[in-house]
Amino acid sequence: MAREITLNVNGEEWTVSVAPNETLLEVLRDRIGLKSPKIGCERGDCGSCTVILDGRTVRSCLVLAVEADGAGVLTVEGLSRDGLTELQQSFIDHNSFQCGFCAPGIILTASELLAKNPHPTEHEVKEALAGNLCRCTGYTPIVEAVLDVAGRRKADDDG
Ligand code: FES
Ligand code: FES
Repeated sequence: MAREITLNVNGEEWTVSVAPNETLLEVLRDRIGLKSPKIGCERGDCGSCTVILDGRTVRSCLVLAVEADGAGVLTVEGLSRDGLTELQQSFIDHNSFQCGFCAPGIILTASELLAKNPHPTEHEVKEALAGNLCRCTGYTPIVEAVLDVAGRRKADDDG
């Protein structure tokens, strides 16, 4: 039986009637029209559906929409509302992506990492991104882009 849920998505309130087995990924893409969370494996393996739910990255294919009732969701559309972030610009500068399918999930995962740990080591960046699969790049330009931002922030902090 359908149930009404409310979500705050990228700062906007939504009320949506959802089926008990509908995922957050389906609601974001099909009801709300946000296409940055990608449909990949749909079983938690690839990270392409990653969004930030109440401040933490989750795989939206594994979250039932009813479980997210009342929560706040951030997608790349919301992250970039006021223009590209420093991290997004760094990904562009490093030509980090090819097809771009993995990009939204990686951007949100790396954003979460830098928010929690502004100066991660290479190992910490690789560890944080381990759950986000990229079939194109070999990861090197992705990791370099994140380390570049971390390095600039460290230089700023060291003053
Ligand atoms: S589509 Fe959700 S982890 Fe792959
Ligand atoms: S750039 Fe194609 S999957 Fe990552």
